[in-house]
Amino acid sequence: MHERELPGRHESLWTSTTPRTDFPPLDGDRRVDTAVVGGGIVGVTAALECAEAGREVALLEADRVVEGVTGKTTAKVTALHGLVYDDLLRTHGRERARGYADANAAAIEAIADRVDERDIDCDFRRVPAYTYAADEDQRGAVEREAAAAERLGLPASYVPDPAFPGATHGAVKFAEQAQFHPRKYLLDLAEAIPEAGSHVLEETAVTGIDDGSPCEVETERGTVTAENVIVATHFPIEDPGFYFARQYPKRSYVLAVRLADDPPDGLFYRDADPYFSVRPHPTDDGTLALVGGQNHKTGQGGSTVARYRRLLEQAREHFDVESVEYRWSTQDFVSVDDVPFVGRLGPTSERVYGATGFGGWGMTNGTAAGMLLAALAQGESRPWAGTFDPQRFDPAASGRDLLAENVDVGAQFARDWTAAALASADGADLAPGEGTVLRRGDTPLAVSRDEDGDIRAVSAVCTHLDCLVRWNDAEGSWDCPCHGSRFSPEGEVLNGPAVEDLPKRGE
Ligand SMILES: Cc1cc2nc3c(=O)[nH]c(=O)nc-3n(C[C@H](O)[C@H](O)[C@H](O)COP(=O)(O)OP(=O)(O)OC[C@H]3O[C@@H](n4cnc5c(N)ncnc54)[C@H](O)[C@@H]3O)c2cc1C
Ligand code: FES
Repeated sequence: MHERELPGRHESLWTSTTPRTDFPPLDGDRRVDTAVVGGGIVGVTAALECAEAGREVALLEADRVVEGVTGKTTAKVTALHGLVYDDLLRTHGRERARGYADANAAAIEAIADRVDERDIDCDFRRVPAYTYAADEDQRGAVEREAAAAERLGLPASYVPDPAFPGATHGAVKFAEQAQFHPRKYLLDLAEAIPEAGSHVLEETAVTGIDDGSPCEVETERGTVTAENVIVATHFPIEDPGFYFARQYPKRSYVLAVRLADDPPDGLFYRDADPYFSVRPHPTDDGTLALVGGQNHKTGQGGSTVARYRRLLEQAREHFDVESVEYRWSTQDFVSVDDVPFVGRLGPTSERVYGATGFGGWGMTNGTAAGMLLAALAQGESRPWAGTFDPQRFDPAASGRDLLAENVDVGAQFARDWTAAALASADGADLAPGEGTVLRRGDTPLAVSRDEDGDIRAVSAVCTHLDCLVRWNDAEGSWDCPCHGSRFSPEGEVLNGPAVEDLPKRGE
């Protein structure tokens, strides 16, 4: 099946139902107290917290705010993250598990308070969240999760029969969680930044950060000088913490579907590989069900068109689906010890802070990160700072996954270079929407054909660390199987860790 034949509009519900922003770009050099790089949930939250504390902030966004991963989330606002607490308690100990629980619980309340104080019309609603057991074998894990979370002070309980089709093996339930429209919420917060005397500067890509006293943030439109810098670019655009080797990219898929009946009320999640999640979302035209899942490592796992198809099949196994209104996909980074990295960006960073590795749970982890980063930039802290310290290394919590991820990267590297050395077609038989990696001389080329029939050719060598990119047939992009960089058919970086485009090649 071709991407064109997939049902639904290929855009997120969130971007489709809100206007594009129009903040000005940076216009020449500027001095501020804090520069925040990247306008997703982390950057917008951090920038507003700093601005409200009386600091002059420049929020620098390469494109438009809240159109990155945050513009494509499913926006479940919950501290229930699949099955994590039992594992955190066992591998990290009580203090760090408690820090994770407290940070995420505090983030829900911080979001609720902002919605309340600013009277934000963002479909915010309190709902319960459930992680239900995939089968009878998982019932014990779900029971243990409920007990562990309750011990950590979270509003958890075990429910034997959650009101969700097929969830017959029990679930852990968190009461008083929430859902919202992430762009309606965050665009309001972004508007509040200039109201507080600071600046949101769009179409201003940061190209370099000098961690000095003061720091200098380079952009193509001028230099921003600041006492300190918060890097909130999802994957940090500078990587002194070797984050590329300490987390892996998880891509997943969302369908906004109309059902014959009302969707179940609450946030439902089946913790499996792949996961399956469902939440309702009200629209002017009735309530849609947002169905998510089919995760895989970016650049691995075959046709992405097939992922959308399988997700729709799964939706149909659970519900009477009348139509697919929207479909989209995006990716998040999962740290090797399942806890995000939030704090000083690298071991020798003095004034540069960053956050990454939210594991698919960045509405609360990302809000908590924004709050913590804003505190650190003001010389303060939050009680959960130690839990998220990026400089931690605990072999018991991360050693096995760290090794496995890096062995996997080596395998991807070797496999593709060998295959490209064997292939030597010319790409002439590509259909519109298809792409392939082929060899011209010693150079691997990434060749694709667009919907008008024109061929695009770029280097197939990822500008991060030289793995070979692979074609993503559903999104029409070149995705790197090693650490998750993505590029457009013209070679532009769509997702890091890469920061340099793929060079164009003659077709
Ligand atoms: C399919 C899917 C569903 C999800 N659903 C949920 C959910 O239900 N609940 C939940 O809690 N979490 C969810 N998540 C996770 C959550 O969406 C993310 O963790 C979170 O949105 C990440 O936010 P961010 O601010 O780090 O990144 P982003 O939103 O990507 O923001 C980074 C910004 O930095 C900008 N930028 C990049 N480079 C530069 C540069 N050089 N200069 C200036 N700006 C730059 C980008 O343009 C972008 O706007 C989901 C993730 C996926 C993949
Ligand atoms: S993302 Fe690291 S080599 Fe491509």
